[in-house]
This record gives sequence, C-alpha cells and structure tokens, in this order.
Amino acid sequence: MPEPIAPLRIALAGHVDHGKSTLVGRLVHDTGSLPDGKLEAIRASSAKRGMPFEWAFLLDAFQAERDQGITIDTTQVWLKTAKRAYTLVDAPGHKEFLRNMVTGAAAAEGALLVVDAKEGVREQSRRHGYLLSLLGLTQVVVAVNKMDLVGYDQARFTEVAHAIGAYLDSLGVAPKAVIPVSGREGDNVASRSAAMPWYRGPTLVEAIDGFQPPPPAVDQPLRFPIQDVYKFDERRIIAGRIESGRLEVGDTLVFSPGGRRARVAAIEAWPEDRRPSEAEAGRSIGITLDDQIFVERGQIGHLEDAGPVETNSLRARLVWLGRQPLVRGKRYKLKLATAEHQVEVQTIERVIDTADLASRSADAVLAGEIAEVVLRARSTLAVDDARLLPRTGRFVLVDGYDVAGGGTISLDGHARARRDSIRSTNVKRVEGQVSLAERWQANGHRSGILWFTGLSGAGKSTLAVELEHHLFRKGWHVAVLDGDNIRHGLSADLGFSPEDRAENIRRVGEVAALFARAGLIVITAFISPYREDRDRVRRIAPDLFHEIHVAADLATCEQRDPKGLYRKARAGKIQEFTGISAPYEPPEAPELVVDTAAHRLEACLAQLSAYVEAHLGAPGGR
Ligand code: ADX
Repeated sequence: MPEPIAPLRIALAGHVDHGKSTLVGRLVHDTGSLPDGKLEAIRASSAKRGMPFEWAFLLDAFQAERDQGITIDTTQVWLKTAKRAYTLVDAPGHKEFLRNMVTGAAAAEGALLVVDAKEGVREQSRRHGYLLSLLGLTQVVVAVNKMDLVGYDQARFTEVAHAIGAYLDSLGVAPKAVIPVSGREGDNVASRSAAMPWYRGPTLVEAIDGFQPPPPAVDQPLRFPIQDVYKFDERRIIAGRIESGRLEVGDTLVFSPGGRRARVAAIEAWPEDRRPSEAEAGRSIGITLDDQIFVERGQIGHLEDAGPVETNSLRARLVWLGRQPLVRGKRYKLKLATAEHQVEVQTIERVIDTADLASRSADAVLAGEIAEVVLRARSTLAVDDARLLPRTGRFVLVDGYDVAGGGTISLDGHARARRDSIRSTNVKRVEGQVSLAERWQANGHRSGILWFTGLSGAGKSTLAVELEHHLFRKGWHVAVLDGDNIRHGLSADLGFSPEDRAENIRRVGEVAALFARAGLIVITAFISPYREDRDRVRRIAPDLFHEIHVAADLATCEQRDPKGLYRKARAGKIQEFTGISAPYEPPEAPELVVDTAAHRLEACLAQLSAYVEAHLGAPGGR
C-alpha cells in the first residue's frame, strides 16, 4: 500500500522582527487552511482582552505540533493550497535555527526567506541565507515583507531584492522568486496586490506551489541501519527502520562497515500469516537472514554495488553549540543513524563567520559558529554524502552527555569514494607463466617492498637512493618510488588532505606490489603518516611488505629542514603539514626502525643493507 503523500516541508527563515509570524498567519488564513471558527475565536479573544487583532496570533493557535527534546524550538504549521499540503517549519531565533539544522528537525525541501522591506537585509537574513545553502536548500523564495510600510514603493523593493539576490547569488543559491508582499494586508500572498501593479511575478502561494517535491526516498539506494538484533527461539531478528530504498525477501544484503552479506529470508514485523515479501522507506521492520552472520547495531544494510562509503576520516560542515568550544585533538562521540563512534577532531580547516562569510583558521570553534572540519575515527564508519542521502550523511557530536553540535558529511574528492566505486566489472586475472620463485632464482635475490615511513626530513629519500645505489652495484634489481617524484606524475592530482594522502598511498602501494611481483626490490619513500593507509598497503601484498620506520624526532627534522618547508609551515604558508598541522602516526610494529637522529648516514645504511641481505638475500624458501 503506498504511503500517503507527505506534505512538502518549507523552512521559514529570516530576522525575528521581519514579520514571519504575521506572514504565516496570513498565508494560513488566505489559503483557507484554517479550521472553521478559528479566526472568529481569535478575533473574539483579542477583543475581549482589549488587544488589536494580530495575524501572528493565528500561529500560536495553529501549531500542528511542537517537537520535544532537543528540537523543542520548532513550530510547525500546516498549510494547504489548491495544489498540495505543506508543513512550515519555523525556529524563533538564530540559535534555534542552528540547532534544528544540526538535528535535522528543520530538514526541508524548500525555504521561505522573509526580509523586511524597510529594514532591508540584516545580519540574521544573511546568516539564514547562508544556513539554507549549507542545508543544500536550493529552492528558495524570498518575501520582501511589510511593503505597506514603504508605501508599496517599487524602487525600495528593487533595492532590497537586489541586495538579497546578490548575497544569495554569492552562496550559489538562485531564488525562485523575490516577491513584494505585506503579511498584514495580504498583498501578493494568496492573491495579487492592487497596490503594486508594477509587480508581475508570482504571488507567494504560486511561488511555493512551484517547489519541486524531493525524489521519493523509496527510489534512492537502500539504507537499513540496524537498531537491534533480537534472539527469538532459533531466529535472530534484525530490527531497524528503512531510511531509504526498499528491500525484498531474497535480496542479498551487505552490512557496512564490515561487508558481511546474507540473503533476506523473511520480513518478520507483521503477523506471521501476513509476512510481506517487501518493505520500503519509512517502515520499521524486523528481518531474518538465511545465514547466521554476525551483525550488530550501527551497521547499515544495503544492496551490493550501491553501499555507503566506508572510511575513518570524515570531512564535514559542522555547527557547534556546545558550552565548551570544539577543539582540535579532542575526542567526541559521533552518532550517525544508529551508529556511535569515537572521533577526534583532526583539523579545523576554517571557521566561517555567517555574517560576512569571512573565514579564519582556528584551533577551536565556539558556540554558534560553523566550521569545516576533518574528523578521524579509530573505527570504520559507513557514511553517505549528506546531499544525496541526508539520513545517513548527517551526524551529531556528543560532548559528555550533551548533543553539542552536528553537521553534514561531504564526500567531495573522497579517495575512498573513488576506490569503493569499483567500476571495473567483468575483469578476470590473467595467469602468467613465470612464477615469482622463478624470478627470484633468475635474479639471485628475493623481491619485496621496503616501505619507508617517517616525517619529512627524517631521511627517507636520502636513504632510499643510497640503498638503491648500494644494491644496484651488487647487481640486484631495485627501484625507488619517492613521494616528491610520484607527486609530479601519478599523484599530481592529489593534495595533502587525509583523503588525498590515503589515495596517494593506495596508488603507490598498488604500483609497488606490481613491481615486487615482477621480481624487483621496491624502496618507497613516502611520509605515509596514517597507520591505516600503511596497513592497507600491507594487505595488498602481505608476504612482500616490510615496514621500515625512518625515525627522527620532529625537532631534528625541523632543524634539518632540507627543503625549507617546516619554516613555511610554521609561517602558516603550508596547510596540513605533517608534524606541524597534520598528524604523524608512527608504526606500532614495524619490521625495522632506523634512527637517523641517533646514527650517522653510514650506520643507518649498514643497518638497512644487513636487513635486506637477511630477508631478501639468496632465494630458497621464505
Ligand atoms: S604522503 O603523506 O602522501 O605520504 P608524500 O610523501 O607523498 O606525502 O609527499 C611528501 C612531500 O611533499 C614532502 O617531502 C614535501 O616535500 C611535500 N609537501 C608539500 N606539502 C606538504 C604537506 N602539507 N605535508 C607534507 N609534505 C608536503
């Protein structure tokens, strides 16, 4: 049975005093959305209390719902036009607006931005405009309100319309219409105003009727976050709410993170005799699987080839409301759908002033500020881009016991996104006729990847080329892959964000594995600061991988500063510089540590060549 069509949600935005309530009262009345007798009742009670009638009173009397808990500050108003039903979602102040944005309470398909014709664009109008763009709301109608107070003057309207238009334009938001209205008098709300014959555009009602409803959630990829797993007799029932898409009995579900899979045996939520064969977005259901795989709360069920991205590094736009500022390096609890993870704020890329969109770099984000941050988790998260799948692309951060902030995930340029979207299907491996053992025999030595990791200036490149030279002179087959060189070619498109570094290391790891399988000794010299990235390379070729920590403390590296980069980084001229403004995670159990701070080059080289001799020397076993 199809669900009834949900009303389209419209977020109300604008400065508190710019007449939002009056305009909404008027909208509700003039569209005939008001229950019979309501208007009369309010007129009567205002008269009795000796107060002038206010359209805004209608709002108080006509709240469809007041959300509780952390979203206590929303007012929702029902509206019905000849075309469809709407819910207008309002938040009284800036803080509340932010809060609603964070928690998703203000999730809406369109927005109505109200600007006072007399006062013009004020800071709060700007902030709200910015937040609308943050929310990804591109369907925006601007009402230039209180036109009665400026004598319905066309010139004034043009001036205000121009200012707000230019501002929204700078945010990449193109308003569908900018309409001169008067909430108090009803001009251009539901009917055309006789007082403004110069205006030829749509009325407010016509403009919002022009909003496009979102694509139905059922048509989006399946996301079934696990709420709980219950044991019933023999069965294990996996319960949750389908946030998007649909699932059918017989579908193979993959659970991320982790990637375990099994087929849906039955959908259990209904009386047993009426077990449905499918369920879709919006339903809370329980399912059983044909295989007793281990799955748990927080994982997201999806269909093959259309899953969320698995990552431990998140780029997000975040609104902070915590009593304590958000600080770099601090750990917070992140909640996304039903999952909870510990995350650390790795970088605060910029803090944005919503008034003028100026950004500054900072180590902390204060309450009421918006920031672009990179969060890093110890565990793997399954996430979506908020613009595509908001329910699995949005999160809140908990500081202690309080929801202190939240935001939306952006997967723009995410290396994982690229990697996980495996597009090369129908490809088979070709088996060669030369075995690795034969290559080793022919070369007279074994092959492998000598993965040098360490800070910039630790001596990776120097040692790599020295070792290469040494081995080459012995007649060994050896090649060096060096960070600076690879970044001129294979990785020329990558920067130094965590995602880009991950992709850089992935590429190099794959190339190194190819070389090593061709019989070469490959020496790689990359900072490769993240443990996870290095571990992933190890997994590409576990039997060929040797992790070698070229160790020198930061002070030593900074003092050497062979390329003058530390100086630049300290001066703020290089962002995300390892050791200064980006982390370095030393290996926990490397095969070898070469301490270049304590030993001279020759000694380090001797240590390396002894290691290579012992592990990659004459073939025969291993
Ligand atoms: S990695 O992190 O992805 O492994 P890689 O080893 O390829 O880095 O590149 C490091 C080299 O790039 C450094 O030796 C330095 O010359 C240069 N570089 C430029 N910007 C940065 C930066 N922000 N952090 C580290 N190295 C940088």
